[in-house]
Amino acid sequence: MDRAVSKPLPPLASIPRDLVAAVDYERRARSHLDDNAWEYLAGGAADEITLQENRAAFDRLRLRGRVLADVKGGHTRLEFLGQTHAHPVLLAPVAYQRLFHADGELATAMAADAMEACMVVSTLASVRMEDIPAAQQAARWFQLYFQADRGQTLALLQRAESSGYSALVVTVDAPLAGIRNREQRAGFVLPKGIAAANLLPVSDANEAVGNSLVFDVLMSKAPSWADIEWLLGQTRLPVLLKGVLDADDAKRAMAHGIAGIIVSNHGGRVLDTLPASIDALPGVVAAIDRKIPVLLDGGIRRGTDIFKARALGADAVLLGRPYIHALATAGALGVAHLLRTLREELEITMALSGCKTLDDIGPDALFRG
Ligand code: FNR
Ligand code: LAC
Repeated sequence: MDRAVSKPLPPLASIPRDLVAAVDYERRARSHLDDNAWEYLAGGAADEITLQENRAAFDRLRLRGRVLADVKGGHTRLEFLGQTHAHPVLLAPVAYQRLFHADGELATAMAADAMEACMVVSTLASVRMEDIPAAQQAARWFQLYFQADRGQTLALLQRAESSGYSALVVTVDAPLAGIRNREQRAGFVLPKGIAAANLLPVSDANEAVGNSLVFDVLMSKAPSWADIEWLLGQTRLPVLLKGVLDADDAKRAMAHGIAGIIVSNHGGRVLDTLPASIDALPGVVAAIDRKIPVLLDGGIRRGTDIFKARALGADAVLLGRPYIHALATAGALGVAHLLRTLREELEITMALSGCKTLDDIGPDALFRG
């Protein structure tokens, strides 16, 4: 395990010249975090094969590139779910952000607003959702984890509606935590004072009746398609499902009236040896056939990755760990700088691929040999 050499450094107040890409923030963030927070952030499930594959799959793809194209007047704007986005980069829900910076989600929200990025606030946010100032420049969505009882789930949803969140992202790939060996080895614990600020304190009461912790306890409270059906009847907000990799699941979601799909393996954190999300994307895109938006996360580190996801049919992408690296390194300033950098990288990739708008990026933008 990489060890921090000494006490974590405080966040930077300005961006040094050598921080020019997401990979630089990743390297830099290590020295701003203690081992506990670092291992929680960096880790994936079990042998971390899916975690690595999320990156490796992007790196295997090659761009076609085009010369002498006229791209004057190009832009990265797009629209989906009735909302206009200045660019196709959203901030994925990431739990407990005060683990990574004293201002946690408040700093992320400030940066998202400055860079016109849609932030998805986690059910497990470390600040109350009502305390995050309403977005002025971009959409703000709420990520919903089903709670053990419908009353609590409904309460979260109603709070999200009344505090101005404009879509719900229901995460369905993590009904249990998965095999978090890296966290176990590091002895990960939430430090005192950091908690899921939007939830009631959890009781340890364990009403186990069967003999399997997984099937009789954890999964007995996990949501099913019937709960999705119920949820859709409780809200006027568009509901996206996050954590879908399978084409049949995507079709079923659409048949239930889901407004959008987020192709994701939870950053390789739940079920190891699932495919890379970019490899699962084409199957889902084919099943959805442009009827509802398809977004993707997992392994996005470069503008070229955003471009490749668009080429394979994603409307937009979400960043997970990279913006947390930026948050830990330089707070809101870091996150804003990272978003600007990725947007510029995307624009450069589009220009050198002869794409004036996001709609110009199709499967033929990739090199086929
Ligand atoms: C997550 N992710 C996540 N997803 C979710 O729906 N609710 C959550 O509370 C969290 N929390 C969380 C914490 C941490 C530390 C990480 C790294 C991730 C998953 C996240 O939304 C996203 O799917 C992945 O992070 C995307 O992969 P990359 O960008 O990290 O490679
Ligand atoms: C995680 C949970 C909180 O990935 O979604 O850590």
